[in-house]
Amino acid sequence: MSDGARIVAVAPADLTPALVEQIDAIFFEASGRSFTSAFERAAFRERWLGRYLQGGTDVVLLALDAGGAAAGYLIGALEDPAEQERFADITYFRAGFRDLCRHYPAHLHINLAPAFRNRGLGARLIAAFAARAAEAGAPGLHVVTARSARNVRFYSRCGLAEQGHTLWKGGEVAFLAMDLRGEQKNKTTGS
Ligand SMILES: CC(C)(COP(=O)(O)OP(=O)(O)OC[C@H]1O[C@@H](n2cnc3c(N)ncnc32)[C@H](O)[C@@H]1OP(=O)(O)O)[C@@H](O)C(=O)NCCC(=O)NCCS
Repeated sequence: MSDGARIVAVAPADLTPALVEQIDAIFFEASGRSFTSAFERAAFRERWLGRYLQGGTDVVLLALDAGGAAAGYLIGALEDPAEQERFADITYFRAGFRDLCRHYPAHLHINLAPAFRNRGLGARLIAAFAARAAEAGAPGLHVVTARSARNVRFYSRCGLAEQGHTLWKGGEVAFLAMDLRGEQKNKTTGS
């Protein structure tokens, strides 16, 4: 099925207030959470979204609908999160998954607006991020999600396989990963 959206990479300076508002709406809807204070809400946004919108080597991919509005996004970081202070608050990187992070250092978060799910758009965003991460020299990429989440099936179809799991905040989270070394070899040999 055609998803009717185009994928663009966006630099932080090109994120208009309207786009940020749309990304925020997708993020909070997908979180399914409520918050007891504005502070808690802002901290949650900063941890899972805001810190990836500051530039540097982080990647922001947007899926834009026909009118140019955000239908979904993928945000990601290319270097090992277990080695970066800015991710110290997400303790599974340094605890259960430290070795895995070295092998699959790039990581991502992805969310689509409900109307754009189940049309293959998420897989296109993952493929676009994998290409960028391979291009940047990352040997692998990963995502961490609840082990029982429905999206595990989606990631599996995208080529991310479980390499480990651990307990985090009272639930089991899985480390799903994709090796990118083959893609890099194909690039250098032109195959
Ligand atoms: C997960 C997601 C990015 C997949 O993108 P997509 O374009 O819908 O995926 P595809 O069309 O390629 O594949 C459909 C699969 O997506 C997943 N999916 C679809 N809707 C979903 C939802 N509301 N929640 C969780 N996963 C969902 C399922 O695995 C589905 O396959 P299934 O029907 O066999 O279970 C997208 O559905 C989404 O944003 N879901 C809600 C938020 C989420 O789970 N984000 C990931 C957090 S780790």
